[in-house]
Amino acid sequence: MTYETLLLETRGRVAIITLNRPQALNALNSTVLIEMRQLLGELQADAGIGAVVLTGSEKAFAAGADIKEMQSLEFVDVFLGDFFCGWEEIAGFRKPLIAAVSGFALGGGCELAMMCDFIIATKTAKFGQPEITLGVIPGMGGTQRLTRAVGKAKAMDLCLTGRMMDAQEAESAGLVARIVDQERLLEEAVAAAEKIAGFSQAAVMMAKESVNRAFEQTLSEGLRFERRLFHSLFATEDQKEGMAAFIDKRKPAFKNR
Ligand code: CAA
Repeated sequence: MTYETLLLETRGRVAIITLNRPQALNALNSTVLIEMRQLLGELQADAGIGAVVLTGSEKAFAAGADIKEMQSLEFVDVFLGDFFCGWEEIAGFRKPLIAAVSGFALGGGCELAMMCDFIIATKTAKFGQPEITLGVIPGMGGTQRLTRAVGKAKAMDLCLTGRMMDAQEAESAGLVARIVDQERLLEEAVAAAEKIAGFSQAAVMMAKESVNRAFEQTLSEGLRFERRLFHSLFATEDQKEGMAAFIDKRKPAFKNR
């Protein structure tokens, strides 16, 4: 299957999705959304894929939602169609999704990176929510996910002034997990994805689900949820294999059973 706005490459159990609208700095239009939903649906169902890396170009991960596509929309169009609602499906992808960010990650681009499980960035990466400069506010989760990631002070600063944050500031603030050299970006992200894809898929997916629950509920409910998932993993062959391998001082061979 070929896509108009995305490139797909697989390396073993890792899929690499590259946003591919260079003429628009990977601005996220409705075709990108349709194609991302379809592709992630296929990768979700593919037992041969254990983790996914999402990246852009050296100049831009994505410079936001497509302003040219949005410009002429009216309130009734966006309200009745629940514009941007479909992007939440990306956040609901159940396998690990790593954002490899170089250059601009602005508006919807920053929001898309934040829908991923963690962000690996180059020193050139720039994050921001410049929607205020266009007379609107973030609409794909910026006011919510950014606030949870970096706290109120920086989220307010970015959303109200529209300024950009460089990779260093984003890492210190907790938005970025790792900063790497430009030429190492994809290798580092793929290496992380390969490592994750080598673990038990059920444990990996439950770890993701459980961390995400921390943003949705109280501590006591979250702890109970985590514990129940932990208990359930004792029903897997991979738990037996992982613990036996530790005791036998050998590498575990997980079978995703
Ligand atoms: N939508 C549509 N096209 C975009 C775009 C966007 N978000 N960002 C860049 N482009 C296009 C430009 O229009 C330009 O196309 P043309 O050559 O046809 O004019 C091309 O990409 C290259 O961009 P620039 O010439 O502007 O490149 P630059 O290096 O001078 O500037 C930039 C780079 C600072 C990122 C600048 O392009 C910019 O400010 N882009 C818009 C950023 C933005 O406001 N993002 C938020 C969008 S709204 C949103 O995302 C809502 C939400 O919550 C989801």
